[in-house]
Amino acid sequence: MQAVVRASRADDYKDVYDVYTCPGVMRNTAGLPYVSLDYWHQRMSSASPGEQMLVAEIDGRVVASINLHCGRNRMAHTARFSMGVHDDFQGKGIGRQLMEAMLDLSEQWLNIRRIELQVYTDNEPAIALYTGFGFAIEGTHRAYAFRDGRYVDAHTMARVRV
Ligand SMILES: CC(C)(COP(=O)(O)OP(=O)(O)OC[C@H]1O[C@@H](n2cnc3c(N)ncnc32)[C@H](O)[C@@H]1OP(=O)(O)O)[C@@H](O)C(=O)NCCC(=O)NCCS
Repeated sequence: MQAVVRASRADDYKDVYDVYTCPGVMRNTAGLPYVSLDYWHQRMSSASPGEQMLVAEIDGRVVASINLHCGRNRMAHTARFSMGVHDDFQGKGIGRQLMEAMLDLSEQWLNIRRIELQVYTDNEPAIALYTGFGFAIEGTHRAYAFRDGRYVDAHTMARVRV
């Protein structure tokens, strides 16, 4: 499914809220079950320095986003990211299109050489996606987060081009 990938706008907040409150996205990210629309409104109205959010649009509706945070000073060559595709649009190639855009922005325009992320160890679709783009598992954090009554481990993965 071909998406339009573009920079996020403040008025995308309702669609982005819908993405991050989907059960599948909430479970696999750091989200909480109850989050207000106001939170996303505020967050998308005031991006922090070094933050870039790209969204994927299908038929005028934002169905996925990827959020890049660039490092500073001696870590200006690094960035970390998180992403989510609405449950109803997963497995249709949208995550891949967002990754391609984010990697192009990072490496061809921002001169980012190290891109990293954390992913829960049981999130096989995400690990397969990142591995396909050359990310390698560098280590595993035990009890990284609490999810649905249990601790969950997470891998740190990185793609390094120096
Ligand atoms: C993980 C996620 C970002 C992938 O995006 P997507 O749009 O569903 O994935 P795509 O359809 O673009 O697939 C790209 C690749 O991901 C992997 N993948 C996607 N779904 C998969 C599945 N169900 N099982 C195994 N691999 C899968 C494959 O490597 C696939 O490549 P292929 O089509 O050549 O086999 C998306 O499913 C998602 O948002 N999940 C919930 C939130 C989340 O996990 N966020 C990331 C937290 S680190």
